[in-house]
Amino acid sequence: MYDINRWPSVRGVLDVCGREHALDVARLARQAAPSLHVDPDLAYLAGLLHDVGKISVPLDILMAERALSESEWTLVRAHPVEGEGLIRTWWPDAPAALLHAVRHHHERLDGLGYPDQLRALPDLTALVAAADVYVALREARPYREPVGALACAEILWSEPLPAHVIHAVLDAAVTDSVTRVV
Ligand SMILES: [Fe+2]
Ligand SMILES: [Fe+2]
Repeated sequence: MYDINRWPSVRGVLDVCGREHALDVARLARQAAPSLHVDPDLAYLAGLLHDVGKISVPLDILMAERALSESEWTLVRAHPVEGEGLIRTWWPDAPAALLHAVRHHHERLDGLGYPDQLRALPDLTALVAAADVYVALREARPYREPVGALACAEILWSEPLPAHVIHAVLDAAVTDSVTRVV
């Protein structure tokens, strides 16, 4: 339904800002989408594009294996807004739910997320947020091993995200671990 090949530049951008991470978030979001009555294709695309704004973050900051300074963090934390802006440029009539998911995938129900400190999230946005946390934990980092599936579930449950969305993502992760992905 939504064809990423419409935008040749997106493939290059994904390579810079983490193609495997984007693909894993996309697959997990698509797997969980039906139980939330979210369009699976839209969930896949939102997952694929959620971090696309990282193209605006200098590579040495993105790949840094050291603590970031406050000003570097400010650049990193701009990626959701940058991503929304990029997608609007590529795709002027992009679905509002997709733009919302990209802009707000780091928001949390306690209002401590960014960029707009929202306290309520539609299901697609919360789905991308929860899938992002799960996939990121399962990835190895320079400073830690991948987190085990059970510990991931525990950490995800501690996130201020809607319980029904966390439930859907964990269910999908169990199914996916049998077939592929995380
Ligand atoms: Fe992000
Ligand atoms: Fe991400």
